[in-house]
Amino acid sequence: MRAVVLVGGFGTRLRPLTYSVPKPMLPVGHVPIIERLIDNLARGGVTDVTLALGFRPEPFMAAFPEGTCAGARLTYAVEPEPLDTGGAIRFAAQYSGIDSTFVVANGDVLTDLDIAALVEFHRSRHAEATLHLTPVEDPSAFGVVDSDERGLVRRFIEKPPAGTAPSNLINAGTYVFEPSVIDRIPGGRKVSIEREIFPLLAADHTLWAVPTDDYWIDTGQPDLYLKANLDIITRRRAERSWAHGIADGAVIGAGVALSDTVVANGASIDAGADISDSVLLAGSHVGAGAHVRHSVVMGRVGARAMVSNCVIGADVVIADGARHADERIPDPSA
Ligand code: GDD
Ligand code: MG
Repeated sequence: MRAVVLVGGFGTRLRPLTYSVPKPMLPVGHVPIIERLIDNLARGGVTDVTLALGFRPEPFMAAFPEGTCAGARLTYAVEPEPLDTGGAIRFAAQYSGIDSTFVVANGDVLTDLDIAALVEFHRSRHAEATLHLTPVEDPSAFGVVDSDERGLVRRFIEKPPAGTAPSNLINAGTYVFEPSVIDRIPGGRKVSIEREIFPLLAADHTLWAVPTDDYWIDTGQPDLYLKANLDIITRRRAERSWAHGIADGAVIGAGVALSDTVVANGASIDAGADISDSVLLAGSHVGAGAHVRHSVVMGRVGARAMVSNCVIGADVVIADGARHADERIPDPSA
């Protein structure tokens, strides 16, 4: 089975982290998001993955030099310009010659969904397209789906105004498509699969959906990126995904206090630092006696600095003794 994985977004909401690393290449529990995602696709029978890229494929090619990822063969489809989700699916499917039932996944979603079961449901309903759904508390930031008890979708509404959503079941970003879906996507311009194509399929009664309570998270925002990491080291996610928080190649000084923290290979922490609920990425450094809480760090934190609820980019140096709370450094909106 073949799959298209959408990885062409700009990762705007994860800045400044995505200034230096494309969103799908950011690690969750030491493994790039894209590799965890493809691993789950491969478990469900996907053998070939086309990455729908909006920009340079080099970081991906360098990370997967054999042209395979989690056992699946990779093809890179680089759009001439950003085509939005629907345009990107059409471009990638045509580029790689897809002509039978295929899987599509948003590249920032981590889930333990059983892909083979989703494909089986799709076939049992003779669906044109089938969506995976997951329940959330506030559906307004997602695609919201209203379906009947058999799973036939009555309405698909992308990002409805708060309080107007017809259900709390949202589009979880994994789909099974017939090739006929590609023919419905107009060529040569931006097309949102969610805003243009899903409503069309729903009106034709060919769109189906299955809710599951599998582990699910969209990693596209700093808080959720942090949560995805902590879920994996604290075993809130399935056993097979579990990772040890501290990588073998991390350098950790004497008397360092660490709780619920991911420390990457190539990160270093000096004596007496106190770090909790955080992710220290490759190349990061925390100085002696510094305190870091609920933060993601790519740069350097000086000795005795206090950092809480921050995202610190790759080239940043936080001065010795400085205090920072609730900041992104550098501030992407500045
Ligand atoms: N190749 C390519 N080209 N990929 C793109 C483009 C593009 O022009 N635009 C977005 N993408 C990719 C992103 O990189 C991401 O992997 C995926 O498409 C979805 O885009 P997001 O920007 O992350 O969308 P979202 O999170 O706001 O909403 C989507 O996901 C929700 C679930 O997490 C929608 O599919 C919602 O309906 C859904 O509920
Ligand atoms: Mg997203």
